[in-house]
This record gives sequence, structure tokens and C-alpha cells, in this order.
Amino acid sequence: MDRNADSGSDRAVKTVLDELATRLDAVRETNIGWPAASDVDFAALTKFFKRHLLNNLGDPFAVGAYPQHTKDLEAEVVDVLADLMRAPVDDRWGYVTAGAGEGNLYALHLARSLHSKGVVYYSESSHYSVDKAVDLLAMPSIRVRADASGRMDMDDLAGVVASNRDRPAIVVANIGTTMTEAVDDVREIGEVLDSLAVRRRFVHADAALSGIPLSLLDPQTRPGFDFADGTDSMIVSGHKFLGTPIPCGVVLVKASHRVHLTRTGGFIGSPDTTIGCSRSGHAALMIWYVLRRYGVDGLRARADQAREVARYAHRRLVELGWDAWLNQHAFTVVLATPPAPVTQRWTLASTNGRSHIICMPGVTRAQIDAFVGDLQAAMPTPTLVSVPSPPPRRTPELRRATPAHVA
Ligand SMILES: Cc1ncc(COP(=O)(O)O)c(C=O)c1O
Repeated sequence: MDRNADSGSDRAVKTVLDELATRLDAVRETNIGWPAASDVDFAALTKFFKRHLLNNLGDPFAVGAYPQHTKDLEAEVVDVLADLMRAPVDDRWGYVTAGAGEGNLYALHLARSLHSKGVVYYSESSHYSVDKAVDLLAMPSIRVRADASGRMDMDDLAGVVASNRDRPAIVVANIGTTMTEAVDDVREIGEVLDSLAVRRRFVHADAALSGIPLSLLDPQTRPGFDFADGTDSMIVSGHKFLGTPIPCGVVLVKASHRVHLTRTGGFIGSPDTTIGCSRSGHAALMIWYVLRRYGVDGLRARADQAREVARYAHRRLVELGWDAWLNQHAFTVVLATPPAPVTQRWTLASTNGRSHIICMPGVTRAQIDAFVGDLQAAMPTPTLVSVPSPPPRRTPELRRATPAHVA
């Protein structure tokens, strides 16, 4: 091989990689609108990126024919998270997905295999991946109204289920909505279905963002969302609270629901039980690493600290007179969309005059101070037009702290 040509291309590659690193570093400080924790250092895993294709083909609980895999770690990940989510010890299964969207697809596919005539009920605050899954699976569905804080309206759910009482109900609960981090209570969903005597049911928890942090709180004081509360399946993200540097998730289900779904995998040597075929063994390795390195206490400390930063951000905005609120236990602070100079500099997710900051682990008070400073500098007058932001339910203390809406 011609070494000169090689070193020329080496230089070109290095230039591109350097530019990429510079671009990514430049947006780090101002990227506070997306739910990705940035406090975990994965450098200890670098050696696994050098020469290994880690492919967890097929079922995580069957080793299979391909030798370079991390299925043993994946099985541990499923077990640790199933414990946190209070899944029955003798009736649990799961796998590491490419993200929460795949988890929603898997769960609805599973629900359809059990209830072929089921109607999917999901809230207008649900992530668009639920829409997509319903569409791909051609399942009949009804969107349920959400209240202003983002929670599913239980009266509306009761109304729409009542008009379809002859059909099984498949309900998607949001455990941390994308825009406001609102949490639907799975126990309340169960009560609605009980009151209508709908026994053929399946409840899926889209817990992409909040599943893990909520599981670290006392079950007596947190919303009902896990298997002990009546959930049949759940997805949690790996790249949100756990901060893995590649997108991934973990879907958890009751193993007994899977009777109709398993196919034989042929040459892969393990049952074909997942949505995809090849699956990232690196993703399982990374999730395992965070869970092991931090343990439950370490994860809880990260969640507590992130909530503290969220409360700080809320307080600073309220002191400034800027309309802002947050749901109970949330990392997400919802605020009236700031003027253009601020949104051009800071990466916030914005829609319909509302934006959010998500104080994931890794977001610091210093970043919040800088953001609030920029907002203050851009404020045209001390009193601003703000979108009417409803006080979230069950947070009267925040309601009092929320400034009166100004015209
Ligand atoms: C509540 C919720 N569900 C599902 C998803 C989809 O996750 P992913 O992008 O990992 O597929 C998201 C993404 O933000 C989300 O917020």
C-alpha cells in the first residue's frame, strides 16, 4: 500500500474528525433542551470500540451462534431494571433496544398479539413514536385528551373506553412526557378500566425519560407507573437518564405475555424474539456499566441533584418574572419561549410559544445562571407577554411560586 497516499488521507480524516469534535464541543454548554445526561464518563469502555463487532443477535437469554456478544451483561441489565420496576421475579423478560421508539413498537406488537381486536388509547401528549407504531401495526386507536400539565385526562379516557367496552383496551401511559415530563398514573388507568368492567386490557408505560429516576423514589409518594402498579410492559431509555453516548433503551415485559411472539431464529442459534435482528452489544455494555458503576444509591444521588438544579432553574426564572413551571419530580422546566437572541444561542425544544429546559445530570447551576443572564439581557420590558401556563396538578407549592400571568 502507498504510505504517502495513506498519510494524505490520514490527514484529511483527522481534519474532518477535529472539525467534528470542535463543532460538538461548541454546542455542549448551551444544549440544555434535550434529555441526555452528560455526566458519565465512558472512557473505561474505549477498548471495546477497537476491534470488536459486539452483536447481541436474537434473544438475550439464549447465547446463540455468534461469539462476540454481551448477552450476559444484557441479561443482567434486564434483571436490574426489572427489579427497580418491581416486575414479578418469575415473570419477566426484556431486551436492549435501539431506543424508546422501538420499545413502544415492541410493546404494542406484543399487546396486539394478545388482543387482536384491541383499541389503543394514547394521550395527545404521547411521543410521536406511539403514533408511528400504531400506524405500522395498523391498530385501531383513539387519542385521549391531556390536561394542560400534559397528563392524560382520565374523564376523557373513561368516555372513549366506555364507547368501546366490547373491545379490549390497550392503554399507553406516559411516564414523563416529552415536552412537560408529565406522568400518567397507571393505578388511575386501572381504576377507569375497572369502573367500566373492561377486563381484557394491556397497559404499556412509555417511561423513556422518567422511569428510572421515578423508580428511585419511595413508592408511597410517587405516581403509580411500574409492574406492581399494573403495567404490563415498559420502555426506558439508555441515553436519557443513564447518559449512554449512543441511543438505546430497555424494554421490559411480563414474560408470560410472549406466548404468541417467539419465532425460531434459524442460523443465529437463538430464538428471534426482538424487533430488529442484529442488535448493539455496545449499548448493553454501556447500560450495564452505568448501572454497575453507580448502583442504586449513586443513581438516586444523580436524580436528586438533577431535580435540585431544575428547582433552581425554576426559581431563577420566577425571580426574573418569566413564566415558568415544572411538574412534580421533574427535571423539565417549562417556560414561555424566550426572545430570538436567546433561542438562537441556547438549544431549547420549543412549540406553540412554550419551551423547555431539561436539567439532566450534567447540567450545572452555572449553565442555568448563564441562560438566565442571557434571557434577562434579551427581555424587552420587565413584564412580558407569556403563554398561559397551567399549574401542574398535585404541586400546589409550585402553583403559588408561579408568577401571575401578565398581559
Ligand atoms: C416519552 C418518549 N417516548 C419515546 C421517545 C422516543 O425515543 P427514541 O428517540 O429513543 O426512539 C421519546 C424521545 O424523546 C420520548 O420522550
